[in-house]
Amino acid sequence: MSNIPVNNKLTAPHAGKESSLHPLIAGKTRRRLQYEPSPSEQDILWTAEWWGLHRSAVFAKLDTAKQHAAILACNRTLMNEAYFIEKSGLAYTAKMVLMAESTDVAQLYALIGADEATHLAWIEPFIDPVDKTHPRGQFLILLSELIEECNPQMLVYLVQVILEGWGLNHYRLLAEGCQNPALTEAFRAILKDEALHHHSGVMLHDTSTFCSADHTLLTDSLKRYAEMVRVGSIAAIAALDQTLGGLSISDTEEIMAALGHPNESARKLTLLRDLMRKPGMESTVDKLTEAGYFTPLPLAEAAQFYLENR
Ligand SMILES: [Fe+2]
Ligand SMILES: [Fe+2]
Repeated sequence: MSNIPVNNKLTAPHAGKESSLHPLIAGKTRRRLQYEPSPSEQDILWTAEWWGLHRSAVFAKLDTAKQHAAILACNRTLMNEAYFIEKSGLAYTAKMVLMAESTDVAQLYALIGADEATHLAWIEPFIDPVDKTHPRGQFLILLSELIEECNPQMLVYLVQVILEGWGLNHYRLLAEGCQNPALTEAFRAILKDEALHHHSGVMLHDTSTFCSADHTLLTDSLKRYAEMVRVGSIAAIAALDQTLGGLSISDTEEIMAALGHPNESARKLTLLRDLMRKPGMESTVDKLTEAGYFTPLPLAEAAQFYLENR
């Protein structure tokens, strides 16, 4: 069996507290946390300084209400992505359990699946009900495609080695800057689990079974990962664009620079390349490096790319 049909149900309803199952789920998932995950109306989960928006003249010119709305919109994109990544973890681990060739591997993925269900329960209270069936951005679509189409050995590399390795840096930044103590605690606990998920991927990584079609699909996926990072924080730019009512090219460039493009994007691309450059993948990654996939797009090109694709 090379694959099984999987439908990653990103838009499946999720009642959370309104579900009759909630007490059972919460009973299992809250044990590890000191605080109950709960947002408050005034929550600014990450500040303008965390984003780098305090460096932007465009942001500084906005009135307080617009600034507040802009930060909320940016923060919502972060939580939307985290929610759907954890939600995708359910389909991912279910597939990996069913396709495991040994009981040990099946056990491992069942345990990781329980972690992902727990992470989802911690994040869900902070998600606007409308957002729970509305994934945003290209990355979540790509992740779903990979979970549905790739064989387990490819998924170990693409999801656990690369994405969960990437997630360690991402969740650390989220935890360090988060202003809600319960959510900060949840991100720190998620970080511990993700380190184990990534480590198990590094242990199971093995390219010896890949055929040439696998290599073609892998190379294409690596390019798509890198291309998303090369253009900077597009999701945050899109949120600001919508909230502020349409950014000009110069405003887009100015805000992209404030958010850290290209320097922060360069740091992320180096991290991504190092995660990808695992045994058996060196020559593929070196070719992509030579082709410029780990070099950020110049600011003007990144802004142009966003405006052409918005
Ligand atoms: Fe997770
Ligand atoms: Fe994970």
